[in-house]
Amino acid sequence: MSTRFSDDWLHLRERADHEARAAALLPPLTDWLGERRIHVADLGAGTGANLRYLARVLPAIQDWTLLDQDRTLMVEAVPPRSGISVQRRGVDLTQGDPLAASSVDLVTASALLDLVSRAWLDALARSCLQQRSAVLLALSYDGTIRWEPRAAGDELVNTLVNSHQRRDKGFGPALGPDSGPTAESVFRDHGFHTWLSPSPWRLGPEKAALQQALLEGWVNAAVEQAPDRRQELHRWATHRRQEITTGRVSLQVGHLDLLALPPESR
Ligand SMILES: C[S@@+](CC[C@H](N)C(=O)[O-])C[C@H]1O[C@@H](n2cnc3c(N)ncnc32)[C@H](O)[C@@H]1O
Repeated sequence: MSTRFSDDWLHLRERADHEARAAALLPPLTDWLGERRIHVADLGAGTGANLRYLARVLPAIQDWTLLDQDRTLMVEAVPPRSGISVQRRGVDLTQGDPLAASSVDLVTASALLDLVSRAWLDALARSCLQQRSAVLLALSYDGTIRWEPRAAGDELVNTLVNSHQRRDKGFGPALGPDSGPTAESVFRDHGFHTWLSPSPWRLGPEKAALQQALLEGWVNAAVEQAPDRRQELHRWATHRRQEITTGRVSLQVGHLDLLALPPESR
């Protein structure tokens, strides 16, 4: 079953996403791209957060193709400066090769990989190898949720959220927290050179709105996984809601960013 994402949610997380991203992966990518005009494909582009992050560091002339099943989200993805063109394609990424009939220098995605299956990743890696494209897959959830101060129930919720993450999101059995390391091994198997780097959200009290939104999503997911523990889970959520309003809560959520560069020759 495919999952829908609201533009409110994507706006709320964008700043934290940009702050979290593994900047150390950018120099090897930009060295590899050089100064040529590049074509970038952004899979699951949403409102264009990945475009807004990468446009400032990639070569001057960039042609972007944004792919997402939700065209309404992509309306907001406009070129952030001159020298950049943006095309939007409303496509379901589970249907066929999203890169077919295009010539792409960089395939990228952010906050998408935890939804996909190993078989889907394998097909993507094959297609990227054929194209000889670089690949940057950012912000894949790694299964870690750490609240400070800690509270009873945190571990239970983390475990249930992680098992909910593995439900099919339309791509086959979802990799969820395993998506980063699995993607690295799949791209390596296809001969790519890979770099996997942590990109955790570090959400202090100033990010209370994002903490609250995460908490609501997590308690719903946890109750779906363990309906018989509904009361215990709602008690946890009530406690956490109150704590967040005191302005003393910090939250770390683990992610991984992957850069994969293609082998030199076939
Ligand atoms: C968590 S959002 C990330 C959006 C954006 N990359 C960002 O970083 O803000 C995941 C995106 O993947 C898209 N998506 C999910 N399943 C899809 C599918 N089967 N085909 C195309 N897009 C899909 C959603 O519409 C959503 O925009």
